Amino acid sequence: MNKRVLVTGGLGYIGSHTVVELLQSGYNVVIADDLSNSKEFILDRIEMITKQRPVFYCIDLCEADAVKNLFDKEHSFDVIIHFAAFKAVGESVVQPLKYFQNNLVSLLNLLRCMDGHCINFVFSSSATVYGEPQELPLKETTPLSKALSAYGSTKQMGEEILEKVAAAGKVQVISLRYFNPVGAHSSALIGELPLGTPNNLLPFVAQTAMGKQKQLTVYGDDYDTPDGTCIRDYIHVVDLARAHVVSCNRQVEKNNQSAYEVFNIGTGKGLSVMEVIKTFEKENQLKLNYIVGRRRSGDAASVYADVEKAHTVLQWKAEKDIVDMVKDAWRWESALQLQAVEK
Ligand code: WQD
Repeated sequence: MNKRVLVTGGLGYIGSHTVVELLQSGYNVVIADDLSNSKEFILDRIEMITKQRPVFYCIDLCEADAVKNLFDKEHSFDVIIHFAAFKAVGESVVQPLKYFQNNLVSLLNLLRCMDGHCINFVFSSSATVYGEPQELPLKETTPLSKALSAYGSTKQMGEEILEKVAAAGKVQVISLRYFNPVGAHSSALIGELPLGTPNNLLPFVAQTAMGKQKQLTVYGDDYDTPDGTCIRDYIHVVDLARAHVVSCNRQVEKNNQSAYEVFNIGTGKGLSVMEVIKTFEKENQLKLNYIVGRRRSGDAASVYADVEKAHTVLQWKAEKDIVDMVKDAWRWESALQLQAVEK
């Protein structure tokens, strides 16, 4: 096949899983990553899984000259998948400029420099673009509310920029709106490496089970949901990675129906925080130390996707369920502990 894909943020959590799936589907991969929230040993792990070692550029996409150099050296790509971005929602509320600067400048640099080198672009978007949900399940046509964080704003703005650039006939874009990515590769060789104390539920659960965190706090059990805890649409990171391969195939085969397309990537099934905790305990045969605390500000009671468009148009469907997610998350956390890879 020999189609070439540039994966920015390719050593990060979702990026590394996508690189593995791309390589296993016959794509050649070039990675650009500044290692700001990833580790270089992930490249070795990718090689261990796939027996292939992608070319790696350690560059900051906010430096236009570095991006130009990359395109001068590599000439052309069939697709660019753009993951590289800051993603800590809470931090973005405290340091909004850091997020606008990094996430928007890197996107603009890529779009300017890719001209003449690539026409297909897959954007790492997020369910966070919906803001406070206006209807459930969330459809791609559901109106977007004001973003609740600067991080969310950068994803809304990113989509807006890409839609306009695509309409001008410069690029073909697929934006994938991820719901809650969790789990790890079944080999336990790659997974999420949270910087400091994790903010997201599954890494916090796994670290509590490992004893790295003393206690998990369930943020509120007085929501208007069946068990009172918040409902989210958790999606296995390998299923999510495969959605990117399907998107690349769609662009390479010119099957896209318009220059700008957007898809929800979730399972379509909402699970409560308590259901996740109970499943983690049951499947991994352990007890979690948790308490019920106050609500976390900015949390919506329920967020889950309508995945009909991804099924029928993109022809992608999640194959893994919450049992796979909690088992793989725990296997990865256990492997981290055993191998002490946190260099
Ligand atoms: C899930 C549920 C918490 C931690 C965020 C981003 C979103 C996307 C995914 C990137 C909520 C509860 C959590 C804890 C808890 N990221 N919780 N105790 O907030 O749905 O989404 O990550 O695009 O943009 O906003 O995910 O994992 O933080 O929380 O009770 O210690 O778990 O209240 O209901 P969230 P999360």
